[in-house]
Amino acid sequence: MSVIAVIGSQWGDEGKGKVVDFLSERADFVARFNGGNNAGHTVINEFGTFKIHLVPSGIFVKKTVGLIGGGVVIDPAVLIEEIEMLNKAGVNVDGRLWISPRSHMIMPYHKILDGLYEEAKGAGATGTTRRGIGPVFADKVSYNGIRWTDFSSDTFEGRLQTQLEIKNKIIVALGGEALKYKTVRDEYRGYYGKIKPYIKELFSIVQDGLKMGKTFLLEQAMGTFLDNDWGTYPFVTASTTIPSAASAGLGIPPKYITSVIGVTKAYTTRVGAGPLPTEIHDTASDVYKKFGEVAATTGRTRRVGWLDLEIVRTAAELSGMTEICLTKLDVLSGLKEIQFCIGYKLNGKPVRYADVDAYGLDKVECIYESFPGWSEDISKAKSFEELPVNTQKYVKMIEEAAGVPVKWIGVGPKREETIRR
Ligand code: GDP
Ligand code: IMO
Ligand code: MG
Repeated sequence: MSVIAVIGSQWGDEGKGKVVDFLSERADFVARFNGGNNAGHTVINEFGTFKIHLVPSGIFVKKTVGLIGGGVVIDPAVLIEEIEMLNKAGVNVDGRLWISPRSHMIMPYHKILDGLYEEAKGAGATGTTRRGIGPVFADKVSYNGIRWTDFSSDTFEGRLQTQLEIKNKIIVALGGEALKYKTVRDEYRGYYGKIKPYIKELFSIVQDGLKMGKTFLLEQAMGTFLDNDWGTYPFVTASTTIPSAASAGLGIPPKYITSVIGVTKAYTTRVGAGPLPTEIHDTASDVYKKFGEVAATTGRTRRVGWLDLEIVRTAAELSGMTEICLTKLDVLSGLKEIQFCIGYKLNGKPVRYADVDAYGLDKVECIYESFPGWSEDISKAKSFEELPVNTQKYVKMIEEAAGVPVKWIGVGPKREETIRR
């Protein structure tokens, strides 16, 4: 049996979707345990190109069973659209996708409040995806949330009425427009009708699976440094993203987690506000253009930077990483020199990530080293030995710095563009 957590070791968008898709061939269960549709996971395989927000990225392998745990927050409209999109692409999820009745629903007021809070914060805004994530998790922990189970216990209408009374006051005070009870009620009743066949308590599914020695692939959303506790607070997301979240979010006891794969981009990106010590600001530079990406959920431009090994090392320690999957190594081809940050200094003294808060991290000075690059296109390489010597050196340097072996290397966005070592 194995329970494998796939986590991003930076600020999200490391390529988790691709990695989960190719690893799912050996999985019985593929599961999401945290976050919501703020996630955008890109999968490119024989069915097409997908940007997935809620359904586990391992769903394309037909023998897998997909689970969306109670730790996930769900915008029903997005989920319905995603299920329909998958069914249309020939990936039938009926009878093999189960959603926890414990999961919270993102309500229209969560999305409105997300936007109003961001605007009210002005220059101090987080740069959220505006999908209602912060407000829905705030409601969850303050006992104001609405879950799928509220439909079966006939508590949906009463809870919605109470929440609308509270939320409308805040919305109006912040300059927004009050929501109408009947409109929201009817909209969500409609969603429930469509999603009901997929709702099932996951407790025995998970427990039986563990007892039978099945393989679980746990797909984290966001990255280690967007974690609400360990990330660059307040420039983080609302959920816990480190592997321990899988325990609460799915009901898997921590002792069952056998490996933690750290998906690590060969450089760094970040979307939204917050510190990014290795950030490249010269938008006209070749390296900026090379690293440039568009966010899968919001279409925003991702901020870019050199690889930060203090970040990867901290992620490895925090999550008990057992292997690294290095992604986007192909993107570095053609650079004359590759820089990377090996540590930080603040006021002339060495500091680690955990010694400073987000505002301190914004002030650290990066200690850089560099390697000569390689000019060869590596996207067709099938083995580590085929890679240019300088590429191999870069990989070896990363595993030494992180203290974790690099077991897979991504040389392109497609499922098969992956080298196993
Ligand atoms: P996720 O949120 O961690 O699943 O990552 P995203 O899908 O948001 O962003 C990763 C981007 O990198 C996507 O456009 C992927 O298709 C792409 N990608 C993933 N791995 C590789 C790789 O090894 N090489 C290249 N060139 N692209 C990759
Ligand atoms: P995946 O799973 C990158 C960022 C937002 C913002 C902060 C808070 O695709 O890696 P939120 O909407 O969660 O309240 O926004 O977190 N963020 C992500 N950045 N990838 C993601 O997901 C992200 N999910 C949230 O940009 O800075
Ligand atoms: Mg993403």
